[in-house]
Amino acid sequence: MKKSKDILMPVNVAGLKFKNPFIVGSGPTAKWIEQLIEAEEVGWGGMSIKLTMDPDPYINPAPRYRWFKDRNFHIFTSEHRLIFAEGLRLVEKGRKKTKDIIIFANIAYSGDRGLAGWENMARKFEGAGADAIELNFCCPNMSFSQEQVGKSKKGRPVSGASLGTNPEIVGKAVKSIVSCVGIPVFAKITPEGGNIGDVAKAAVSNGAAGISSVSNRTGTPPFDINRVDMSTYWLQEGFSLGCMSGPWLKPLAQKDVFQIRKAIGPEPAIIGLGGVQNYVDSIEMAMVGADLIGICTETMLRGFGILPKIIRGIKEYINRTNSKSFSELRDRMIPYLLSADGLKTLPGHAIVDRELCIGCGKCLKIGHCNAIELKDKKAYIKAEQCLGCSTCTDICPENAIAMKSI
Ligand SMILES: Cc1cc2nc3c(=O)[nH]c(=O)nc-3n(C[C@H](O)[C@H](O)[C@H](O)COP(=O)(O)O)c2cc1C
Repeated sequence: MKKSKDILMPVNVAGLKFKNPFIVGSGPTAKWIEQLIEAEEVGWGGMSIKLTMDPDPYINPAPRYRWFKDRNFHIFTSEHRLIFAEGLRLVEKGRKKTKDIIIFANIAYSGDRGLAGWENMARKFEGAGADAIELNFCCPNMSFSQEQVGKSKKGRPVSGASLGTNPEIVGKAVKSIVSCVGIPVFAKITPEGGNIGDVAKAAVSNGAAGISSVSNRTGTPPFDINRVDMSTYWLQEGFSLGCMSGPWLKPLAQKDVFQIRKAIGPEPAIIGLGGVQNYVDSIEMAMVGADLIGICTETMLRGFGILPKIIRGIKEYINRTNSKSFSELRDRMIPYLLSADGLKTLPGHAIVDRELCIGCGKCLKIGHCNAIELKDKKAYIKAEQCLGCSTCTDICPENAIAMKSI
């Protein structure tokens, strides 16, 4: 697929010029030079290359993935990262073979040189031609996975989400790395800790140009209750807590982006990732605070060719709503996300359309409701007992119940 003018939707973020706000999220579709070239050909604004580690990754098995389409999530633990020389080669070659795709180097240092090791990586990636650094404080599959199952030991390497849950560590690392490179530094942080906003604030107050969020969330992989020892994965024995991503993640990811935007204010950039599949997801992500949109799982499942349709959808939306640009959509939802005590419930009750009701009785079974009975083989709502909760409208298979305000 060749790039067309249709993919142009320029944005300036963190001093970088993107031809559109779409970034291929760090992962399996950002590992090889061919992928970088193809992403540019299709028209992606940027790519964050697969996590590069120095020293060589201390856990680095072959990739084993599962996509549970019926449950809308992707899950994995086993994953192969790049070693330092591979990452550098990819960026160096990629920079020469591509023109305007913005290349992020997603990096983690886990050796005993501490901050000097991080700085060395960042400097070398800048030298190789990376446009931005993305510090990986998010990977939950290495030391964090060991911690979660109670296997962490003193003296073992530490990386990813183990660091990203601690604002002090993130702040310190960002400060030292920002001081030694001229390109923007992003911190990719984890939702696995406490308040993600605190970590984001620590990163930007120490000089990060932006925050990438969200990475994956960890959960137990689906398992067979009759064979609990049997792995969910093909060609893999045993399982661990898995990294979950894809559409299932979207509401959680949007919450994280919202919280980060509230914490860091309007200036620093946010790359919003998590469950984005289409133009609506992308607009939603912008509306809760993202400047750029990262997509990983969807590119794994359907390739880079998803982009033009997403951009077409956004352009149509912008025209239809008389908006000026994609950037103008940012934060639109934020004023409407109130705290619980700011909400106003309105009086009212459910009503039944007797024409539509088939008398199946499903609404009578709602455990917290005493307001519904069958009368002449149709649901009947005792308005004075109706809580107004509206569960019945969602339970009814015939859409025969609606809410009426009074
Ligand atoms: C198989 C796989 C590998 C990933 N590897 C990395 C990685 O190396 N570095 C990183 O920062 N994020 C990594 N991620 C996280 C994604 O970049 C992204 O943040 C996350 O999956 C949520 O977005 P999505 O729902 O569009 O996939 C990986 C995700 C998947 C599914």
